[in-house]
Amino acid sequence: MCGIVGYVGPRLASPLLLEGLKRLEYRGYDSAGVAIMNGKGVETRKAPGKISELERLVTAAPIHGTLGIAHTRWATHGAPNFCNAHPHLSCDNNIAVVHNGIIENGSSLRQALEDVGHTFRSETDTEVLAHLIEEFFDGNLEEAVLEALRKVEGTYGIAVVSSRDPNKIVAARKGSPLLVGLGEGEYFVASDVSAILAHTRQVIYLDDGDLAVLERDGYRIIDMQALPMTRAVNSIDWDLDMIERGGFPHFMLKEIFEQPTTIENTMRGRLLVEEGTAKLGGINLTNEELLEFDNIVITACGTSWHSALIGEFMIEELARIPVEVEYASEFRYRNPVIGPRTLCIVISQSGETADTLAAMREAQKRGARALGIVNVVGSTIARESDGGIYIHAGPEIGVASTKAFTSQVIALALFTLRLARLRGLPAEEGRPIVEALQKLPAQIKDVLDRADEIESIADEFNDAANFLYLGRGYNFPAALEGALKLKEISYIHAEGYPAAEMKHGPIALIDENMPVVFIAPHDSVFDKVVSNVQEVKARGGRVIALTSRSEPSLAGKIDYEIRVPETIDMFTPILAAVPLQLLAYYIAVKRGANVDQPRNLAKSVTVE
Ligand code: AGP
Repeated sequence: MCGIVGYVGPRLASPLLLEGLKRLEYRGYDSAGVAIMNGKGVETRKAPGKISELERLVTAAPIHGTLGIAHTRWATHGAPNFCNAHPHLSCDNNIAVVHNGIIENGSSLRQALEDVGHTFRSETDTEVLAHLIEEFFDGNLEEAVLEALRKVEGTYGIAVVSSRDPNKIVAARKGSPLLVGLGEGEYFVASDVSAILAHTRQVIYLDDGDLAVLERDGYRIIDMQALPMTRAVNSIDWDLDMIERGGFPHFMLKEIFEQPTTIENTMRGRLLVEEGTAKLGGINLTNEELLEFDNIVITACGTSWHSALIGEFMIEELARIPVEVEYASEFRYRNPVIGPRTLCIVISQSGETADTLAAMREAQKRGARALGIVNVVGSTIARESDGGIYIHAGPEIGVASTKAFTSQVIALALFTLRLARLRGLPAEEGRPIVEALQKLPAQIKDVLDRADEIESIADEFNDAANFLYLGRGYNFPAALEGALKLKEISYIHAEGYPAAEMKHGPIALIDENMPVVFIAPHDSVFDKVVSNVQEVKARGGRVIALTSRSEPSLAGKIDYEIRVPETIDMFTPILAAVPLQLLAYYIAVKRGANVDQPRNLAKSVTVE
């Protein structure tokens, strides 16, 4: 996903812009660039590849200016090369634009601009904006940007500068996150708070349709009709070291080891032990409103979809209301049977995933009420949902989601308790669930304390070509999640399956080269899993079993054992997820993969 940084103030812009881009590296990119006012005009430097390449160019030929914009690009239109890197310029080189999103009517706008004499240098949709603003420019930059954006269909987060209106940055958003940072006599624009956290904690999250004008003596926000808008100033309580690696070799490992703390943060202040329930202030639903729902749809993507499956099992088991889990990318284009008596739970770590946001908007259009389970405060899904539960997992920088997953499951458990107790679950059945929740941080720490055991198992499998992950009940989604972790960071092909489903086809894959991970805690379906282990062993498969106690029935049938603490069935996926995150991590590291920024992946997929 692309990253945007902008600065106006008394300091040199280029070091601040480059530092901001580096803090956005984790989002995934393939080229980068800056545009800075140098007192005579707009000066740009662009480079395909890593930011260090751009930094080399800027160091070799410094740009002296205190106002500028910068960008990291994750290609959606046009190859990752110099021409397509942002910023893009108008014909007269007086206007520079950086953009995150997709201009859906870019081709028709480009044709119309070429017809009146504009010449294009790139294959990107973004360059259209530079020429369109130039077309409307009449001395006032924000007016020209407003005119141009009124012609645009699609999504954008943009920052624009012009040497003919040189003391301002104009920023605007529609569908791609953008925020304004308020420093001491200096102002920032960024697509993500981590880019500017070293300089300010006071940020304004722009809404769709907002346009911000940043100048040396202040900022203002207007809407698409140029009417002044007032936006809340958020104070960010994330510290930089929360964003830095904190001594771990990778963000992913740091975030795996944060989980005892992060799930505590998810629960903090929300458990009502005596009543055996949870209090959730942000859901904006009264007891009466909660009781009016006939059904629940949970929609998400990727790892968040896996936590949604666990949520389905929890809610149906305890709250006794029908739940459907939908891939957001599918749900948004179906004709689902939902309405005002449907609660649509929307799960997203980033709160910016395009498919999930679109699915939520579709559900709301049909009258359903949207409840967001989100990590990033102020993100679009968080702000557009009708209520929500922040998971408070802190910034998740590693592209592979780990701590967000376990916190999502905790948030779903809290919501399940809240709803189930309203719908008749007795307090004496709620209390053991609350008590089990309270034990989880220490139990996760117990697993982490034995990470070296998992690392030694990883040594045996880092040259595997395929993996199967099998589980039943609550641990079928855990199998899916374990497989996703492995494939997305080690590039080993891995599949998750319901354990009983293996005999309907996948068992043909089993031979002495096929490692099979069984998630086999001593839960209500354990005995069934044992028979699946025997089926695999009988065909020479290599078995790694996650168990929660010494199991005579598994003696001689498993090659490697990973012991996890005992908990109630609904939380076994959390205690299974942690060792499987570590297994994937150690295998990927041993294979020399780029664990925090796996190839082809981005942390938040804000395009379709
Ligand atoms: C998970 O490890 C992946 N990075 C990916 O599947 C991710 O979960 C998915 O893109 C959804 O992201 P979100 O939770 O931010 O919406």
